[in-house]
Amino acid sequence: MDYQKIINEVSEEIKTIPQEGSVADYIPELAKINPNQFALHVQSLENKCYSFGDINQKFSIQSISKVFALTKAYMIHSGKLWTRVGVEPSGNPFNSLVQLEYENGIPRNPFINAGALVIIDILCDTLENPKQELLDFIRKLAGNEDIHFNKKVAESEKRTGFKNAAQINLMKSFGNIKNDINEVLDVYYYLCSIEMSVVDLSKSFMIFVNHGILMSDNTRIMNSSKTKRVNALMQTCGFYDEAGEFSFKVGLPGKSGVGGGIVAVHPEKYAVAVWSPPLNKKGNSYLGMKALEMLTTKTELSIF
Ligand code: DON
Repeated sequence: MDYQKIINEVSEEIKTIPQEGSVADYIPELAKINPNQFALHVQSLENKCYSFGDINQKFSIQSISKVFALTKAYMIHSGKLWTRVGVEPSGNPFNSLVQLEYENGIPRNPFINAGALVIIDILCDTLENPKQELLDFIRKLAGNEDIHFNKKVAESEKRTGFKNAAQINLMKSFGNIKNDINEVLDVYYYLCSIEMSVVDLSKSFMIFVNHGILMSDNTRIMNSSKTKRVNALMQTCGFYDEAGEFSFKVGLPGKSGVGGGIVAVHPEKYAVAVWSPPLNKKGNSYLGMKALEMLTTKTELSIF
């Protein structure tokens, strides 16, 4: 398979698609981003890389960080997690409050905001310094120490994150948040503010390609069964109320963030990260989804 040739074709075709959507302006600091940036990077299990665009430009990973938080919590807690958070797609926006009330404060899955807040609450109970330990974990997966929080983005969201505050308060009222609300929100916002490039992201998701084993030193991060389950959750819940559309058009497990990044994995083959800041109405990168659809269509490879 000549991946680079296919990616070159994708890069030419993507330029002809008129940009739609807009950058995430509900987080004031993210509204400042230049919308005309684009990057795509494929990291293969054979340790080959294929790419185009601004591949070393770091951007806010936002909800992609929820995969790292879940992985860290799942490594420690196994099945105990699933009494506090479900494994079903929500069919609702990532910050919706409606289900949370009639489902008694148990979020549908770990990738909607409420679910990630529960996972962070669990990590706050387990880790001595959750922020630093999560950052160190991500650096290890990416094989790059030069990955950092963006304090301005985190504090900007902390000032304006009224819906997250509503969700965590609602869950606390149902007894599904154990720690201090502000402590959990602080870890959540800092985790979302982490900045990575498409190179960092595709490398850090290689454990989901490689049955839970870190490629750089062959150490096991998570067992195969848990890795399979995280991939299953990415497939069914990674794109909120657009998870079906992403499965239909791209056919890979993946996760998006409102910084405009998307990472997808083809188990035993490759991880691909794409970045284009303008988002569609569901909060997923408009051109990012198009590029991934082109990639799996042209390669004629998906998990289905
Ligand atoms: O809590 C929020 O709204 C953001 N920090 C993360 C949301 C997000 O990235 C949703 N993904 N597409």
